[in-house]
Amino acid sequence: MKQSTLKESYKQSKYPLSGHGKRNIHVLKEAFQSIDGDVESDLYGEGSVIAEFQEKMARLLGKEEAVFFPSGTMAQQIALRIWCDEKGLRKVAYHPLSHLEIHEEDGLKELHKIETILLADKGRVIEIEDVLNIEEPVASILLELPQREIGGQLPSFETLKQISEYCQENGMKLHLDGARLLEVLPYYQKTAAEVCALFDSIYVSFYKGIGGIAGAILAGDKAFIKNAKVWKRRYGGDLISLYPYILSADYYFNRRAHKMEQYYEAAKELAQFYNTCHGVSTLPLIPVSNMFHVHFHLSKDQVETVLTEVQQQTGLGLTSYSKEINEKSCYFEVSMGDLYDEVPKELVKKAFTQLNDLIKQRFSSI
Ligand SMILES: Cc1ncc(COP(=O)(O)O)c(C=O)c1O
Repeated sequence: MKQSTLKESYKQSKYPLSGHGKRNIHVLKEAFQSIDGDVESDLYGEGSVIAEFQEKMARLLGKEEAVFFPSGTMAQQIALRIWCDEKGLRKVAYHPLSHLEIHEEDGLKELHKIETILLADKGRVIEIEDVLNIEEPVASILLELPQREIGGQLPSFETLKQISEYCQENGMKLHLDGARLLEVLPYYQKTAAEVCALFDSIYVSFYKGIGGIAGAILAGDKAFIKNAKVWKRRYGGDLISLYPYILSADYYFNRRAHKMEQYYEAAKELAQFYNTCHGVSTLPLIPVSNMFHVHFHLSKDQVETVLTEVQQQTGLGLTSYSKEINEKSCYFEVSMGDLYDEVPKELVKKAFTQLNDLIKQRFSSI
C-alpha cells in the first residue's frame, strides 16, 4: 500500500529530480527522427552502421577494436571466459557486490564453470592490498567503476595504476566493468582512453548516464575482439540487426557524453540537500560520479510516508521506491541526468526544508 503510494506520487510529480525522463516511445522517436531513412541496417554483426560505431568507440576508449553487444551481461561473461581460456585457468576475482556476482543468476559459474574469488568487504571498494592478498592464481580481475551497489564509490586513480601494474607483472588480465565509465571521468579528471589504458578489456553501457535504449561495447586488442565476436555468435548475440540499439546509442552518446560534468555537479549539489536533513545521509557523502545512495536512519514505512507527503505537496519527485536494509534503515539510489536542470532551485530548497521538518516533527527520537 505504502509502496504504491510512493510510486504513484513519484509518477505524478511535476519535477522528477533524477534521470533524463521517462523511458517511453519519445525516447525512440527522438533518436530516429533525424536519421536518414535510407541508412541500411547491419546484418549479423556486419555493415557500416555497426562497423562505424565500433570504430568510434574503439578510438574513444583507446583500444585496437571494439564490438557492439546487446547487453553488458553477455559482453562481460564472454570477456572473462576469454581471459580464462588464454591462461588455462577458470578463476577470476571481483567485488562481492559486482553485477556478475549478484545480478546475473551466476551466468559465469553456470555457463563457464568459472570460479570466483571475492575481493574486499562488501561496504568498500577494492584496494591494492586486496589484490596483493589474493592467495591463488587468477586469470583476470574485474573492477567496477563506480561500484554501483555501494553508492558508486571509486578507488583513487593511483590505486588503479597500482592494481594495473601488479596485474601486468603477474600475468593477470584486468577487465573494467565501465557500465558508467563516462560518468566517472569528471572526478578522475582523465579521458576515457587514459582510464582504459590501465585495463586489458573494457565494457561500457549506453543506457545509463547516456540514456539510450540498451546495448554495450566491449573493447580490447584485435585478438581479444576476434574471440569476443565468436562468443557473441555462440551466445545468440548476433541479432540479425542491432541497428535500433546502435543508432540510438550513437544518438544519445552524441547528445550526452559531454554532459557528465554537469550531472556530477548536480549529484554533489543534491547530495548536500539530502545531507542537511535529520537522520539522512548519502553514500558517498560527497558523490564521485552522477550517482549516489540516500540512506535513512528510519524504517522503510516511516520513510515512505514522509517522502510521499513531500512529493505530493511540492510536486518534486525524489524517488519511486525505497529498499529496506533492516527495521531501522532503508535507502534508494539516485542517478543525475538532464532533468535536474529543469527544476526551480527554490522548489528544491523548499522541499528539503519540508522533508527535514517532517522527519524532526514525526521522529524526534532519532
Ligand atoms: C555495473 C554494471 N555492470 C553490468 C551491467 C549489465 O548491463 P546490461 O543490463 O546491459 O546487461 C549493469 C547493468 O545494470 C551494471 O550496472
